[in-house]
Amino acid sequence: MAQQDLSQEEVNELIHQSHEAKEFSFSPYSKFRVGAALKTRDGRVFKGCNVENACYNLGVCAERNAIAKAVSEGYRDFIAIAIASDMENEFISPCGACRQVMREFGCKWDVYLTKLDKSYKKMTVDELLPCSFGPEDLSK
Ligand code: THU
Repeated sequence: MAQQDLSQEEVNELIHQSHEAKEFSFSPYSKFRVGAALKTRDGRVFKGCNVENACYNLGVCAERNAIAKAVSEGYRDFIAIAIASDMENEFISPCGACRQVMREFGCKWDVYLTKLDKSYKKMTVDELLPCSFGPEDLSK
């Protein structure tokens, strides 16, 4: 499916929602709060935060929680995701596992990496995970 550009107002709103999502972060171990806001083609937004566990390796990232919420409600056509953390001087960058899970739902949608002041860098999934392996490869 083709890319769909958001208006500046929609971008700002999605970023705002990713920072709202961060407020529910359950991160008592890392104390590193992350939020994500995922927008579907029909305009719905699913929010997620990181949810950690005393069994450390069971923690789940904000991006994957937002994607799992959307998919489990029947939404798979994504146009953008915004990611928020409390870092003032760095854009939050999704981990490799989250990049692969984003890629499952296409390479040509947008990822907004933000700083605490809501400034952002926009990248596509393809730029974040070049030469990726995806569902299409299974049938080749
Ligand atoms: N984390 C995310 O939720 N998303 C990212 O993009 C990077 C890292 C979480 C995982 C863990 O709960 C905490 O941040 C520290 O790694």
